[in-house]
Amino acid sequence: MTGAQMTGRLSNKIAVITGAARGIGRATALRFAEEGADVALLDIGRDVPGIPYAGAKSSQLDEVKAEVEALGRKALALTADVTKTDQVNAAVASVIATWGRIDLMVAAAGIDSWANAWELTDEQWQTMMDVNLTGVWKIARAVSPAMIEQKSGAMVFIGSVLSHRANKQFAHYTAAKHGVLGVMRAFALELAPYGIRANSVDPTVVKTDMVFNPQYLDRLGGHPGTTMDEARAHYLKWNTLPIPWCEPVDIANAVLFLASDEARAITGIALPVDLGALLK
Ligand SMILES: NC(=O)c1ccc[n+]([C@@H]2O[C@H](COP(=O)([O-])OP(=O)(O)OC[C@H]3O[C@@H](n4cnc5c(N)ncnc54)[C@H](O)[C@@H]3O)[C@@H](O)[C@H]2O)c1
Repeated sequence: MTGAQMTGRLSNKIAVITGAARGIGRATALRFAEEGADVALLDIGRDVPGIPYAGAKSSQLDEVKAEVEALGRKALALTADVTKTDQVNAAVASVIATWGRIDLMVAAAGIDSWANAWELTDEQWQTMMDVNLTGVWKIARAVSPAMIEQKSGAMVFIGSVLSHRANKQFAHYTAAKHGVLGVMRAFALELAPYGIRANSVDPTVVKTDMVFNPQYLDRLGGHPGTTMDEARAHYLKWNTLPIPWCEPVDIANAVLFLASDEARAITGIALPVDLGALLK
């Protein structure tokens, strides 16, 4: 998928990745496997109620498992909702039962919806907080005891450029992503004494089903049937580099760096992978 050479940057590490059925989570799982990690793939694998575009399917989780195995690494496919403590903890327990340790955690599960700040419903707000903020904290909490016992580990949280700035119609998403920045910094501070690092990768628009679905594109263009060409023109203005959007592997490569020992001196930072969007 990436054409990258296997260089063993994560040799024999055990990684837990949420949102792994597709998009950034999937790309990260494959990139980690290419670099020698075994990966536990967590995903809800179904539509999230109230979200205006189709969710991942459980079959996609199995497909990613097969893709990881085709790269010569081991994978666990774990259906779990990151908003449910019992499901998150059971998934993490099964990773420990299978492999005995957890070296890396990537929190990539997330959702999107949109409305003016003054027109958001209670349900839209709460679902956003539950998945994109509380869900991130729950997986970080769940893997912490194993990492603390090992006295090593690295966490990478997927934030957004909206961890740093606002965008119209995304008050709830912006608030949740600013919250992810705070959660990341808290884990970085509290877990540093155990040799555990925590950082975030904060993307601009990425070519995944979260954005490139008919509902989102029509919101973007302001009319039904908005085309990819219209989206391209929009995002070329939003970003600074003359590239309309990131590919999932662009994000996965940044996550890989922060997860690897190459970043052993780096904790508590937010790394935008933003095509220069935050320059504006
Ligand atoms: N795509 C972008 O433009 C973009 C930009 C900035 C940040 N992000 C962030 O990147 C992360 C990954 O998004 P993506 O673009 O890959 O989207 P995606 O929709 O392709 O993937 C998200 C995955 O999360 C899973 N998920 C959703 N709710 C879940 C839950 N409650 N429990 C477990 N799994 C759940 C979905 O099933 C899906 O597989 C998200 O946090 C998103 O906010 C995306």
